[in-house]
Amino acid sequence: MPSFSALALSTLLALSSTPAAALAEGQCQVLESEVTWGFKESFRSYISGSIALGQWTTSGDVGYKTPVFIFTGGEGTIAPDRTGGSVAFEGELLFEGHGGNLRTSLGHPTLVIDSGRSATLVFDVTGDTMDMVSVSADDVEFVTLEWSAGDESVDVATGEWVVTGAQATLTGAGSESFGTYPEGEPFDPVDIRLLVTPSCLTPGGLNPWWVAGGVLGLALLGGGMLWITARARKSPEQERQ
Ligand code: HEM
Repeated sequence: MPSFSALALSTLLALSSTPAAALAEGQCQVLESEVTWGFKESFRSYISGSIALGQWTTSGDVGYKTPVFIFTGGEGTIAPDRTGGSVAFEGELLFEGHGGNLRTSLGHPTLVIDSGRSATLVFDVTGDTMDMVSVSADDVEFVTLEWSAGDESVDVATGEWVVTGAQATLTGAGSESFGTYPEGEPFDPVDIRLLVTPSCLTPGGLNPWWVAGGVLGLALLGGGMLWITARARKSPEQERQ
């Protein structure tokens, strides 16, 4: 009969040799993550200014380095072509002001990658809005992020994916939970840097609509050239008949 320590050792070995099994099939494991966001410059100056006389603090995976909040050490997986996946962070951004009347926490930030160069930042929101409506809502899809092809870079070999200056827009749910700002309000742009398992990502592809448009354009051009050549070959006699 194996001793207790032998059993414990074999269990440990089995556990340590199966991390890949826990990874959803076909997904890339996020090894390093960094989401950099100023939240909203005008809100930061309102909080730290003479009206609210407040401050903000951060905890867990959330840090602050003037003038941006930085989420690091998130866990998750993303699709090799960056059309899905999520990275979850622990910790919170806590805004305080007006002698304690304003105390809004945005906790447990999660970056959810949507298809087609877009993502959502999701938070658990607690606090009172300026209209004094008390809010305590989990998993609020707070802002949507959008970027264009030129804003991102993919290094397949190292597994680094970088998005610079994604446009952040407040959602309806974000507006309801935070108050004051309407849906569609622009927030500060977001930078994303994820490092995943090397060689897991696929290269940045071409948009299929552009490819289809290009093929159609070439076909039309080719057809036009054939028609011109055929007409040019007709002799003047043939033209007169
Ligand atoms: C004693 C309670 C409060 C007072 C007297 C107050 C007062 C004000 C005032 C005067 C402004 C206009 C600032 C400006 O135009 O520069 C403002 C803006 C704002 N307040 Fe409050 N507020 C209170 C509570 C809250 C609470 C609880 C929230 C919740 C988050 C909040 C969120 C905001 C936001 C988001 C803005 C807009 C900031 C911007 O981007 O310019 N306020 N508030």
